[in-house]
Amino acid sequence: MNDSNNRRFNVAVVGATGAVGETMLSILAERNFPVGKLVPLASERSAGGTVGYRGEEYVIEDLAGFDPTGIDIALFSAGGGVSKEYAPKFAAAGAVVIDNSSAFRYDDDVPLVVSEVNPEAAKLRPRGIIANPNCSTMQMLVALAPIHRAYGIERINVATYQSVSGAGRSALEELARQTGALLAFQDADPRRFPVQIAFNLIPHIDDFLDNGFTKEEMKLVWETRKILGDESIQVNPTAVRVPVFYGHSEAVNVETREKVSAAQARALLASAPGVKVVDERKPGGYPTPVTHASGHDAVFVGRIREDLSHPRGLNLWIVSDNIRKGAALNAVQVAELVAAGG
Ligand code: A2P
Repeated sequence: MNDSNNRRFNVAVVGATGAVGETMLSILAERNFPVGKLVPLASERSAGGTVGYRGEEYVIEDLAGFDPTGIDIALFSAGGGVSKEYAPKFAAAGAVVIDNSSAFRYDDDVPLVVSEVNPEAAKLRPRGIIANPNCSTMQMLVALAPIHRAYGIERINVATYQSVSGAGRSALEELARQTGALLAFQDADPRRFPVQIAFNLIPHIDDFLDNGFTKEEMKLVWETRKILGDESIQVNPTAVRVPVFYGHSEAVNVETREKVSAAQARALLASAPGVKVVDERKPGGYPTPVTHASGHDAVFVGRIREDLSHPRGLNLWIVSDNIRKGAALNAVQVAELVAAGG
């Protein structure tokens, strides 16, 4: 920390009324981030309202009319369009922007950082912007990076089971509303998702691309390679939205260069930063979004077993709170790296 030991940072949270933004505020408080001035920002419709931080109410300001001069760190989670327009303005005013949208993730001069995996990348930020990875990539790589370093991963097959909170507050409300409506024998009336999400699964997250994959699926390909710094890793993703409020799950199969046994993988992951192994071969001896992930920081890994169909294949079940490690927690951890590194 050098001379930054006692320094405090003026922090702006852009999207402070959102599902991720409100968790950013609570994690800043929980982790005692050295906040000087705190400025919650949102759209005009929320301006003048308040959000809570450390037991006090803070007035929300309208992003459009806000002068970022004096802000040291800006945590953005208000969507890609807002980031594209306002993040460069905050950076030009001297702030380090930590952006949770996908607006800058694939730009070569913007680092993409998972705090446990490639923290050193946060230091090189020529545009003053650091990107926070997609929630599904985030939890997958917290668990897979140690395996990649020790045994070399050649290929990843992943199917995600993603909770609705990843689509924001309106999606949480839609699942609750539809669940109530259907139990009362009323119509689901889909609005936020293209089809009914309550009591259903939707194999479609983000836009469809020309190659037949969705953008959410391709994020797993592009971001895995960028964060691990290895363009040779093959990733075959399927992303599915499930009627869970908080916590993403992933069924992952990896093919490694060197054979790794289930016992070796379990031992490696037991001491990996940010990972908790929950892998007892009995009922309930595995992580789920509700029993383990929701409201917790760790990436939980269970069902570790060798692939019956491939000599160097390994199966894992990876579960984490998508709003915490998948978004707000990592953003604050990156802010801590910035604070520590100057
Ligand atoms: P607001 O509540 O004023 O619309 P979520 O992902 O949970 O839907 O949250 C999105 C967040 O981004 C909210 O805080 C929302 O604020 C904010 N937001 C959306 N559009 C804008 C905008 N044009 N300017 C500032 N904040 C925005």
